[in-house]
Amino acid sequence: MREFVLGLGRNIATLAGAALATVAALAFLFVLALSALGFTDSPYIGIFGFVVVPALFVLGLLLIPIGLRIERRRDRLALERGERPRALPVWDLNDARTRRAFGTFVLLTLVNLAIVGTAGFKAVEVMDSTEFCGTACHSVMAPEYANYLRSPHARVGCVDCHIGPGASWFVKSKLSGSWQLISVNLNLYPRPIPTPVENLRPARETCEQCHWPAKFVGDRLRVFTHYAEDEANTETKSVLLLRVGGVQGRAAQGIHWHVDPSIRIRYLSDAKREDIREVELTRAGGEVEVFRRGGGETAPGEERTWRTMDCVDCHNRPTHIYRPAEEEIDDAIRLGAIDPSLPWVRREGMGALRAGYESHGAATEGIRRRIESFYAASYPEAAAAARDRIAAAADELGRIYRVNVWPSMNIRWGTYPNHIGHTWTVGCFRCHDEEHETAGGRTISQDCTTCHALLAQDERDPEILRQINP
Ligand code: HEC
Ligand code: HEC
Ligand code: HEC
Ligand code: HEC
Ligand code: HEC
Repeated sequence: MREFVLGLGRNIATLAGAALATVAALAFLFVLALSALGFTDSPYIGIFGFVVVPALFVLGLLLIPIGLRIERRRDRLALERGERPRALPVWDLNDARTRRAFGTFVLLTLVNLAIVGTAGFKAVEVMDSTEFCGTACHSVMAPEYANYLRSPHARVGCVDCHIGPGASWFVKSKLSGSWQLISVNLNLYPRPIPTPVENLRPARETCEQCHWPAKFVGDRLRVFTHYAEDEANTETKSVLLLRVGGVQGRAAQGIHWHVDPSIRIRYLSDAKREDIREVELTRAGGEVEVFRRGGGETAPGEERTWRTMDCVDCHNRPTHIYRPAEEEIDDAIRLGAIDPSLPWVRREGMGALRAGYESHGAATEGIRRRIESFYAASYPEAAAAARDRIAAAADELGRIYRVNVWPSMNIRWGTYPNHIGHTWTVGCFRCHDEEHETAGGRTISQDCTTCHALLAQDERDPEILRQINP
């Protein structure tokens, strides 16, 4: 044992390695204890304890044999020069002391393996946690995280959509994740993060872990409430019976017909997937139809690629839902967060949201000042009485701005369009525009009844709602 320790001590690398491994092992056990006591809410503790510390630990372990090797070479050179090499320890297991030393060595190795194993497991667990994905690179992912937290998928882990099951995507994601960590630290990442995400795993391998594609959804009744930009903020409603459909019996129908497992739709488009030139439809029997849009020559150097349609070609914003200002403000008025009895609040609110601000702080301040000064100037008496309601409206507008617009990441209104529908973005009308034609002259329909029965459109008091909800 004495020789072993001396052997360690003879070389600085070995000594440093042993010290590093010991300190790292102690630090690791400390973080593990913290974690057992429930102190691991912060992803930084996780990154430090389960990624950085184990890395140092492994580095320490590696330094030990490197040092021993350098030492051995030095001995060999000494021998060549005709000097007597320093004696190496003789491991005689008949000797009780050596036996004990050997036992200690084996035991320590086992402990080391256990530490590396646990650390590896913990590292994966930490890196797969939603907190890690959402907050470790905070300024970068903050917008995605904020919108995720208020979405229907707020209880679904980032990895369920971004990685999915199986080892190969796991490895791919860790490789791209490592690059992301580097680019964040070196400040190389693009703002905003470009979409569509090119290397997203095919949605059918992720979404379908939870959503059954062949589930028959049928018709879905949706009521859309809007407010006019007039003094009274006049309320109107549109009522739609959306034909979501799905597979029923032996064939699919309605909107989810596109993802019937027996048909395939591919399309040729620009990188943004917005300018669609050709759509190729292969039906269950194998017949192929191609819908082409004439005109609009491809600019030289412009890249167009084919893509097979899946869930995210419509549901491209299932969880990072940036909403248009109109939709947000209409919801806030409908839910009472903004008082509809404040004159012109829809128009003034839109104006305040649309103005440019340098930061979230500046927006909060600017929106408040703008709303308060409008009422002070236009309705001086009423403004005094409605002070609290005006302040509440300004607060709500600030909140709407801060969750949808992120000046630090160059995310503005409309940076991330949502393809469901056609009101605020082209959406379904990228293909359903009556301009994509087969050789036989058939087009992809824009007939309103293909997708929904329009039971009322922008009506003050729709008859249909009184019938179903008297
Ligand atoms: C319900 C599935 C789902 C979940 C859960 C999910 N994402 Fe996404 N995410 C997507 C889809 C789909 C896209 C691709 C959007 C596109 O290509 O236009 C995306 C895109 C992104 C982008 C690119 C920027 C953007 O807004 O398009 C980032 C960054 C991102 N996700 C981070 C996260 C983080 C962090 C979490 C967990 C807090 C998370 N995602 C959870 C489905 C999901
Ligand atoms: C880990 C499970 C899981 C995965 C993976 C998942 N979802 Fe969901 N999704 C849910 C749950 C749970 C809900 C229901 C939330 C609720 O009703 O509040 C939901 C709701 C939805 C809704 C209805 C939202 C609404 O407004 O009612 C849509 C659309 C949807 N998911 C699409 C997708 C798409 C597209 C993907 C793949 C990119 C996906 N989901 C991946 C679990 C999942
Ligand atoms: C052609 C576009 C399109 C495609 C492709 C598509 N969806 Fe949908 N989906 C819709 C529309 C539109 C709705 C209704 C949205 C609304 O209520 O406003 C919907 C609704 C849903 C809902 C809510 C259903 C409910 O019970 O209310 C879920 C869940 C969903 N889709 C999942 C998926 C999954 C998973 C895929 C991929 C297998 C997929 N969708 C593919 C357009 C599409
Ligand atoms: C990439 C192109 C593309 C996009 C985007 C697209 N569709 Fe389609 N859709 C098609 C094609 C192709 C057909 C088949 C047309 C035909 O055969 O007449 C179709 C057919 C349909 C049908 C009729 C299905 C049936 O029962 O035969 C509905 C409903 C529909 N689409 C709804 C939607 C909705 C809603 C959206 C947007 C959320 C949408 N589509 C987006 C390409 C697209
Ligand atoms: C290809 C399918 C499709 C066609 C064709 C289509 N719509 Fe729609 N429409 C949708 C979907 C999907 C939504 C729901 C969007 C959402 O969930 O936010 C919608 C929503 C609407 C809304 C409510 C939006 C709001 O915010 O008030 C109106 C109004 C509407 N459509 C009118 C029409 C009219 C009029 C036509 C005929 C010219 C038409 N649509 C054709 C798919 C379609």
